[in-house]
Amino acid sequence: MIKVWTDAAEAGLLDRFGARGSTFVYQPGALPVRAVSVTMPVRLPSWDIQYGLPPIFEMNLPEGMLRERLRLAFAKATGTFDEFDLLAIVGRSQVGRIRCTGQKEQLQEDVPFQSVDEILGKRRGGDLFRYLIDKFASFSGISGVQPKILVRDETASVPLSKAKHRLSHSHRGATHIVKFWEQNEYPQLAANEYFCLKVAEQCGLEVPTYRLAEDGLALVVDRFDLRPNGTYRGFEDFCVLNARRTDEKYRGSYEASIMKRFAEFANSSHVGEDLERLFTLIVINCALRNGDAHLKNFGIVYDDVEGEARLAPVYDLVTTSVYLPKDSLSLTLNGTTKWPSAKELQRLGETRMSGSPARVRGILERIADAIATTSTSLRTYINDHEEFGEIGGRMLQQWEQGIATSLNP
Ligand SMILES: Nc1ncnc2c1ncn2[C@@H]1O[C@H](COP(=O)(O)OP(=O)(O)OP(=O)(O)O)[C@@H](O)[C@H]1O
Ligand SMILES: [Mg+2]
Repeated sequence: MIKVWTDAAEAGLLDRFGARGSTFVYQPGALPVRAVSVTMPVRLPSWDIQYGLPPIFEMNLPEGMLRERLRLAFAKATGTFDEFDLLAIVGRSQVGRIRCTGQKEQLQEDVPFQSVDEILGKRRGGDLFRYLIDKFASFSGISGVQPKILVRDETASVPLSKAKHRLSHSHRGATHIVKFWEQNEYPQLAANEYFCLKVAEQCGLEVPTYRLAEDGLALVVDRFDLRPNGTYRGFEDFCVLNARRTDEKYRGSYEASIMKRFAEFANSSHVGEDLERLFTLIVINCALRNGDAHLKNFGIVYDDVEGEARLAPVYDLVTTSVYLPKDSLSLTLNGTTKWPSAKELQRLGETRMSGSPARVRGILERIADAIATTSTSLRTYINDHEEFGEIGGRMLQQWEQGIATSLNP
């Protein structure tokens, strides 16, 4: 049995159910604000699912190499190792406002301290990577296929230290995400993502503070769900909003599963503004040739589960076509996964964002300008980092194609 907490207060109990399912029941008398998800309001009857975990509890389970590490480390102790076991391990320190503990346990995050500056500056290569994964894996309730961990370093965070309230010394939760990459499969992934995020930032979208390690081996991103006072905001990805399992993250369309769904859950007077940001982000993904913009790479954030939800800041932007030349969209647009033309994107903006033709045109132009500006800094980085030359050169080619086919009329 797992005890589930929201905003550091007890919300309910999650247990196994039937052969392969699970059941979640709210505490008697739980108030509506204790809801674990905008899709699972507080109610008396339990929320039962025949297979696996409800999407909100599956949302932050590591995929890929991190999951395999945890399986190897814990399978012996638990005998078997399924999603329920994985949640019991990483659920105490995960993205968003939900925490999991044992039924009798109190809440205690206690993520070990790790200097982010050390990660950014050090040249220990594979060793540092292994050390960090071993030490932080069990505190890393964070999804995604690429190896990554959650660490705690309240001192290094620029925005946090500038904030009026510094994080208190008693804060023990994670503050940053450290992303690595599979050395052989996806060379220079951190630098790739770094420059893609620059494009989004240049377009005026909200991007959390992100820094690239000197040796290019890691990207460190500030958690956007962490408030200056050390508490965490609600976060839900679009797998949850579409009631999909993680392995269904490539199912759906940008029109319905992202834009329409967002409008349904926003509950906010800023919905028009956010739809414009969402549209901008989708177009950036197309222009940068990111074939991995699936349901888990968009999300909402909120302070109050019953209040307004805003589009989450930008994360996980990568030019994937430099690794997979035949890559294409990961959700459909206009019924296909082919990279869209400017005309198709223009139509998407006019229909789903209700933008005037001129306004939509302006967005596409702004993105083309941002890519051109960022290309200049990317070239400078190539000059100083020979090892990035090949991937960087391919990125520039892909971006040029992206501008030519998806942005220019
Ligand atoms: N800055 C952030 N603050 C809080 N949560 C974040 C942040 N960036 C990412 N996340 C969460 O972490 C998850 C994994 O991060 P990310 O998508 O960058 O990893 P990835 O391994 O590249 O993913 P994928 O499997 O899509 O390639 C995201 O889906 C999101 O839930
Ligand atoms: Mg991702």
